[in-house]
Amino acid sequence: MTDTPNQLQNLGQQAIKALDGIATLTELEAWRITYIGRKGSITLALKQIKELPEEERRAAGKIGNEIRQAVMQAFAAKEASLGGKTVGGEVSDLPAGPGHLHPLTLTMRRIQDIFSAMGFTYVEGPEVEEQKFNFDLLNIPPQHPARAETDTFYVAGLKGSDSLPLVLRTHVSNMQNRGPVEYKLTPPFKIFYQGRTFRSEKADATHGSVFHQLEFMIVNKTASMADLKKVIQTFYSTFFQKPVDVRLRPSYFPFVEPGVEVDMSCVFCGGSGCSVCKHTGWIEMAGAGAVHPQVLKNINVDPDRYQGLALGGGVDRLAMLYYGVNDIRLFWSDDIRFLRQFS
Ligand code: FA5
Repeated sequence: MTDTPNQLQNLGQQAIKALDGIATLTELEAWRITYIGRKGSITLALKQIKELPEEERRAAGKIGNEIRQAVMQAFAAKEASLGGKTVGGEVSDLPAGPGHLHPLTLTMRRIQDIFSAMGFTYVEGPEVEEQKFNFDLLNIPPQHPARAETDTFYVAGLKGSDSLPLVLRTHVSNMQNRGPVEYKLTPPFKIFYQGRTFRSEKADATHGSVFHQLEFMIVNKTASMADLKKVIQTFYSTFFQKPVDVRLRPSYFPFVEPGVEVDMSCVFCGGSGCSVCKHTGWIEMAGAGAVHPQVLKNINVDPDRYQGLALGGGVDRLAMLYYGVNDIRLFWSDDIRFLRQFS
């Protein structure tokens, strides 16, 4: 029998007791580093649980969890009572103050307002999705590379009505089918949806494994690629509060035909070339196209009588351009010095 649970109990008691004597945020930050920082004694003791023999690991894990919770609660209470926050190695003596909306929430609210004003109906759907909606009904066949586990997060142990494992949606295009069907829409209609999407990707300055997309879909008797361009241009110009140009380049998505990649003239240099647009004058914003006839049939719309248009783009990248944020990962930061800038 090892000593890890006992050691954790003692450390937990010692840490909570030590909080009593703390009177400033600077002292609290030193406490945080000593006990629960990356190399803190409680953090290191909790890590040892993994090394225990299997028969001891479960009980030790339970005790470890209880102690961690008690210590974190006591820490949070102390932080609140001192009226400030310790921030990853630095101390902010600014009072915590009232909360405010996250920049991505602010961005999504603005986007929704713009589409509402343009006459689109807002529809919502699930983030944990059946493969049927995320792939099959969008013409993405069973062997398509996007379905590989290297790209898609599968939900272990849960299956959909198609008897296939559920996935975390890889795009919001799952709503191209769910939207019209669940909201019982018949053409003509214009819908808009947005939300969280998930891909098994390595995060870097412009890619997240969790990110947000916006999408719209228009179905009527006359929709043309010229209409698509007009709607996109109106949206981006309204969003950036200045006129922007849009260009469509041929591309491939299984659920649109023709498919296009959407570029917007650079909002920083106006198209003359700068570091943001990599001196091309254009920024890649979204995928779009005319909805594939089979996708229309899947929502009981006759493709001989109706046309569809759709666009799907990144929300986080819009917010980065709008606020001048150069790394998408900052949106996941809990650093109040970053977040405060958007209050
Ligand atoms: C799609 O996801 C298609 N569903 C878009 C679409 C809808 C095409 C309707 C046609 C018709 P794509 O994988 O290119 O396409 O992603 C669309 C946008 O999401 C990208 O232009 C980018 O802005 C954003 N995006 C994609 N992957 C990431 C990521 N890992 N991190 C942040 N943003 C991302």
